[in-house]
Amino acid sequence: MERWFPIRTARLLLREFRASDEFDVHEYASDPIVSQFDEWGPNTPEKTSERLARHLREQERWPRQEVDLAVELLSEQKIIGSTSVWMSDEKNRTAGFGYTFNQRYWNQGFATEATRALLNSCFQSFEMHRVWASCDVRNIGSWRVMEKLGMRREGMFLRDKFQKGVWRDSYLYAILADEWQSACR
Ligand SMILES: CC(C)(COP(=O)(O)OP(=O)(O)OC[C@H]1O[C@@H](n2cnc3c(N)ncnc32)[C@H](O)[C@@H]1OP(=O)(O)O)[C@@H](O)C(=O)NCCC(=O)NCCS
Repeated sequence: MERWFPIRTARLLLREFRASDEFDVHEYASDPIVSQFDEWGPNTPEKTSERLARHLREQERWPRQEVDLAVELLSEQKIIGSTSVWMSDEKNRTAGFGYTFNQRYWNQGFATEATRALLNSCFQSFEMHRVWASCDVRNIGSWRVMEKLGMRREGMFLRDKFQKGVWRDSYLYAILADEWQSACR
């Protein structure tokens, strides 16, 4: 399969990482609010550097099971977040995804815009049958993005993840290819 990125949307470019992205990436990765519902973070400068170096190494391989993309805000030529998609079950054509954005750019529809483009690629370019994501139940912004995109809440898992010293509850959201096609009509 050909590389299905970069992807351009009205305001964003989803592209591979560059070494020069480090300052922008660290801006959001070092913010404790941004990583409050995740197992990683807040990052030290060393951790961001290490993580970016790993992305750069992984980007040399194609095809690969997981694709991490930087999200560039075209008007500012700035990385305002990142998004990942991975093949979680190849036999059943199922992929999972995640996203992280700089707090200064929240609630302006950027995650929804980037994820819409990502879902389009999942269903059109690599013909997934089902795409899912999970989030902490307290992460309203995250599950709102998924609901705006037409994803269904398939379940709630009680205390399924031990993160930052507490057991958290998670929602699982998913969408099937035919549901995505209907939502796009
Ligand atoms: C989750 C996240 C990616 C959303 O990014 P975003 O660019 O702000 O998302 P959007 O602007 O596309 O949509 C957010 C929606 O949530 C709503 N929202 C956010 N916080 C809310 C709250 N506390 N109460 C009610 N609605 C809320 C916004 O109003 C918006 O909905 P609307 O368009 O209907 O008004 C961003 O908050 C983030 O990076 N968080 C930290 C990392 C993270 O938690 N990643 C997900 C891990 S599962």
